[in-house]
Order: sequence, then C-alpha cells, then structure tokens
Amino acid sequence: MVKKKTCVFISGEGSNLKNLISHSRKSNFPIKISLVITNNINAKGIIFAKKYKIPFIFINTKLKNYENKILFNLKKYKITFICLAGYMKIISKNLVNKYQNKIINIHPSLLPRFKGLDTFSRMLKNKEKKAGCTVHFVSEKLDSGSKITQKIFFIDDNDDELILKKKTQTLEYKAFPEAIIKIFRNN
Ligand code: GRF
Repeated sequence: MVKKKTCVFISGEGSNLKNLISHSRKSNFPIKISLVITNNINAKGIIFAKKYKIPFIFINTKLKNYENKILFNLKKYKITFICLAGYMKIISKNLVNKYQNKIINIHPSLLPRFKGLDTFSRMLKNKEKKAGCTVHFVSEKLDSGSKITQKIFFIDDNDDELILKKKTQTLEYKAFPEAIIKIFRNN
C-alpha cells in the first residue's frame, strides 16, 4: 500500500495528532504523517511530532505571506492529504481550492449543529440531549463541507463542559481514523 503523504495542522494539545500518528504507524493505515504545521509556537502537540521525528513547521499567520509558506512546505513534502486537528485558523479559499476534497477537519459537535467555537457551553445552555463529533471535508464555508463520519452520545444531566469534552474526544479518537479509512477504502 502506498500511503498518502499527509500534513496535520494543529494549534493546541494535539491529542488527535497523537492518535493519528499511532494509527498511521500501522502498515495497513492509508496515510503517513509526513509533516505537522502549527500556527501556535507553544502548541503542546508539537511534542508528538518531535517524539516521532516528524518534521514540523511553525507558521506565523500574522505575517502577510504566511499562505505562501504553507503552500511551499506542502509542496516540499509532497503532501497530498491534510487533516485539521484542532487548528484554530480558517483555511483560505486558495488552499481549499488547491486541495479540493483533500482536506478534512474534526469538529466537536453534531454538525450542522453548533458550528464554530464554544460548542459545549452552547450545547448546555440549549439543553441539548445529544452531543458528538463530526469529521467532514473542508469547504470554503466554516464547518460546512460534506460529512464523512459522525459519532453521537447522549448527554447526562450532570455532564459539565469538561465531561462533554472528554466524552467527545473519546469518540473523536475513533471517528478520525475511521473517516480516513473510509475515504481511501477504494483507492
Ligand atoms: C478537538 O476536540 C477537535 O474537535 C477540535 O479541537 C480539539 C482539538 O483537540 N477541533 P486536540 O488538540 O487534538 O487535543
């Protein structure tokens, strides 16, 4: 199997990155993580790139030409697939167009419900019964591309934001690899 050279974009903890790295080390998993990009020099997740000797690059998204730096590195590392794993920056139209149906994102809600930030506090305020996560293709519109995988759980009366986050992330660690397998199943 020729694994797709993949770049994972992160901004924070990187627990999904860690999970994807461990899956990608299996011989039958369709992707190899060849590059990690972060827009946050202090992202804890960088630790996992270092540990597994995966090249990582900090992109200062405050600089005007940051987009070119991203594109340059994607080309340099021959990246054909991109996973956004807690990347807190909107991907530009240009990048989305260049990687049409090749960029996926994981979002901590049952999309199309609760797009954007602060999903858990909004769910609790709204007295939602269900929560979960969604893996979807990235389109020009925020959290709106077509769905690949969705996982659901029922919210308990005493679930607070922290518990919701924990429960959601446990599902994310299943959903993200499943989505990747689903995408490349017939390739
Ligand atoms: C995840 O919950 C994901 O749904 C959201 O950001 C979080 C990232 O967590 N987009 P981590 O950095 O992978 O630990």
